[in-house]
Amino acid sequence: MTPRIRPAEPADTAAIAALVEAAFGRPGEAALVAALRGAGAVSAELVAEGEGGTPCGHVLLSPLRLDFAGEDVPAQALAPVAVAPECQGRGIGAALVRAALAAVPGPVLVLGAPEWYPRFGFSWEAAKPLVSPFPWAGRAFMAYDPEGVLTGREHGRVHYPEPFGLMA
Ligand SMILES: CC(C)(COP(=O)(O)OP(=O)(O)OC[C@H]1O[C@@H](n2cnc3c(N)ncnc32)[C@H](O)[C@@H]1OP(=O)(O)O)[C@@H](O)C(=O)NCCC(=O)NCCS
Repeated sequence: MTPRIRPAEPADTAAIAALVEAAFGRPGEAALVAALRGAGAVSAELVAEGEGGTPCGHVLLSPLRLDFAGEDVPAQALAPVAVAPECQGRGIGAALVRAALAAVPGPVLVLGAPEWYPRFGFSWEAAKPLVSPFPWAGRAFMAYDPEGVLTGREHGRVHYPEPFGLMA
């Protein structure tokens, strides 16, 4: 069944924090969500509704700046994506990622599983014009760029919103 996906609302805050922490099994990503909101660094925030409308999945996009030798290109970071453990494996995560990609313009960057994200159109090749902020991550640093905004460019520097420093 396709989950209902809608923008996150202030009343969802506690449920989102709980599901993100449960999904990752640690508090860091839920703290990142709170910090991004606090910094005003949210482009879109969506939830998938579980029983009774309570969020069982969540995705957040935040604005990024790509700097190509002084020319700025706007982009988005997709992070984090989380589905409550008891709701996983039913297509909710995939539906959230697709809805997130449809919600924002421009390239979207992700640091994630190379086995999962390519099905949505992400590839490490599309991220090649960027200097990876995560050189240790190899092909886990991927871009979704269906309009080819990054094509033909090189050495782009990626500037994440400051709260991502929390995850370093
Ligand atoms: C990753 C996550 C959001 C997927 O949510 P979900 O609702 O279970 O995903 P879906 O049901 O849409 O898709 C399940 C598929 O994703 C795959 N998948 C899930 N997590 C994966 C991972 N870390 N690496 C590779 N594949 C993964 C499953 O194997 C399954 O593959 P299949 O469709 O080929 O059988 C969820 O497992 C989760 O919250 N994990 C913990 C937090 C996390 O790792 N977030 C993502 C950071 S990159």
